[in-house]
Amino acid sequence: MAYPLLGRSPVELDEWSELKRYAAELKGTTIAQLFVDDPGRSERLKLSVGPAIVDFSKNLIDSSVVGMLIRLARLRGLEDAIDAMWAGQRINTTENRSVLHVALRMQRGSKLMVGGVDVVAEVDSVLDRMADFATAVRTGVFRGATGKPIETVVNIGIGGSYLGPEMATLALQEYAIRDIAFEFVSNVDPAAIASIIERCNPETTLFVVASKTFTTLETMTNAGAARQWILDQLGDREDVIAHHFCAVSTSLQLVSDFGIDSRNTFGFWDFVGGRYSVDSAVGLSLMIAIGPERFRSFLAGFAEIDAHMRSSPLESNVPVLMGLLAVWYRNFWGAQTQAVLPYSERLRRLPAYLQQLVMESNGKSVRLDGSGVEYNTGAVIWGEPGTDGQHAFYQLMHQGTTLIPADFILFAEPVAGPPGQQDMLVANGLAQSAALAFGRSDAELRDAGIAEELIPHKRMPGNRPSTVLLFPQLTPRVLGSLIALYEHSVFTQGVIWGINSFDQWGVELGKEMAARLVGPLAGAKPPDLAGMDASTASLVAEYRHLRGRPNA
Ligand code: F6P
Repeated sequence: MAYPLLGRSPVELDEWSELKRYAAELKGTTIAQLFVDDPGRSERLKLSVGPAIVDFSKNLIDSSVVGMLIRLARLRGLEDAIDAMWAGQRINTTENRSVLHVALRMQRGSKLMVGGVDVVAEVDSVLDRMADFATAVRTGVFRGATGKPIETVVNIGIGGSYLGPEMATLALQEYAIRDIAFEFVSNVDPAAIASIIERCNPETTLFVVASKTFTTLETMTNAGAARQWILDQLGDREDVIAHHFCAVSTSLQLVSDFGIDSRNTFGFWDFVGGRYSVDSAVGLSLMIAIGPERFRSFLAGFAEIDAHMRSSPLESNVPVLMGLLAVWYRNFWGAQTQAVLPYSERLRRLPAYLQQLVMESNGKSVRLDGSGVEYNTGAVIWGEPGTDGQHAFYQLMHQGTTLIPADFILFAEPVAGPPGQQDMLVANGLAQSAALAFGRSDAELRDAGIAEELIPHKRMPGNRPSTVLLFPQLTPRVLGSLIALYEHSVFTQGVIWGINSFDQWGVELGKEMAARLVGPLAGAKPPDLAGMDASTASLVAEYRHLRGRPNA
């Protein structure tokens, strides 16, 4: 079976219709009943991979469904697709690019030849330069223009050049150097850069400008503001920029045009998508925070899952099963969203990170050949850490009318604080997952003495699916494996749907229109609004009025 399957629709396959039929049948049973029918279920549907124990048993599946989903995956060419990705084939067809984030974490010294170039050797050489730089910053060898050591690192970037570094630096703060503070600016809202500048001492601040393209409006605007501030504060000299700016990009010429020293510039490659780049040089601020050794262990966590994805049979391949479950709920149960619920304060930003990973990757409505899909693709991803979410939106998950499959992410050991509290945290996560699945029957409510008129209100229907991912502790390695599980799940979904998970053309139009609107909003003279839609034209006029700018 050759990959890509370009225009063929999965709907044409018998397995698709079979899954549809089977989903209708399963609607007549419950998760509770599935446990009764199959006493070995919890052990059979609990898989180990790297540091993770993944319990799929509280999902609306049985072995027939799993078998059908795997057959579907085979017929969609998933195994060939995996081979094609690892071989560096240009599977990002609309940008004519290979997709090789897996090369970022291949074992040092291994080889991956793509177009006559050993990609792993290139990755290793950038990692070595990053390690030297990060160590120099951490030990105070790299200093500001007035000779003081760096006390604040500010990552300026957006999307994949922000969400990954911020999420991971927050997640791993227990492993980070104490003498340096880490800040992240993404939004072009002037308040964002203003509050950073307010908090920072120019003499001891290092800006990391992270942008794959080095053209992104938000990042270049914020970087320009930061540069102006540093020059205003420390003097308009070239060496000031060299002491306070470094950059991460694929566009080395644009970095140099900005005035950043090539010794402080770290490249990556167009085969790394922005949302797959936290383990590239985009992770520089993370490496400065946790040090090169721990960054290596972060990469090793990814690599462990990569090896599993690459070589495990689909039947026991955890990220593949995660992806197939996402397809199952999206296409056969009508689920529109998926909740990600990390029971970890440190993973507060994981849902936002996964939103970009999943929704920018699989928010597509045409197949690889441009033909339209006649089935749903990527779900809306959302979530909050437990236990916070329990006191906000879980009500709807338990008793609302919408099916929301959920991932509970739990850790055995705490990273900080009183260890006893971790037991309470995990108890809550496990309780929620069980309550969603098994609910509480009317009989149980009556036995508990609940008044008859309250029974419909207190009824807990259950039968709401979730997966539990249990890890020993949130460490750099564990975080790497957690991210890789989701990356490969996203790929699996994309292959089933026959879409390109690695482009993001849908974000372009808004960017172009924003660029065209700045002039009419900001100009001193009344703007020419001809050609603009009526709603936008009238709002431009209202805005100008509020800013005291003439409209006529
Ligand atoms: O607008 C979407 C996007 O292209 C993302 O895919 C990317 O992560 C982000 O913008 C930032 O892009 P860059 O790293 O090129 O600044």
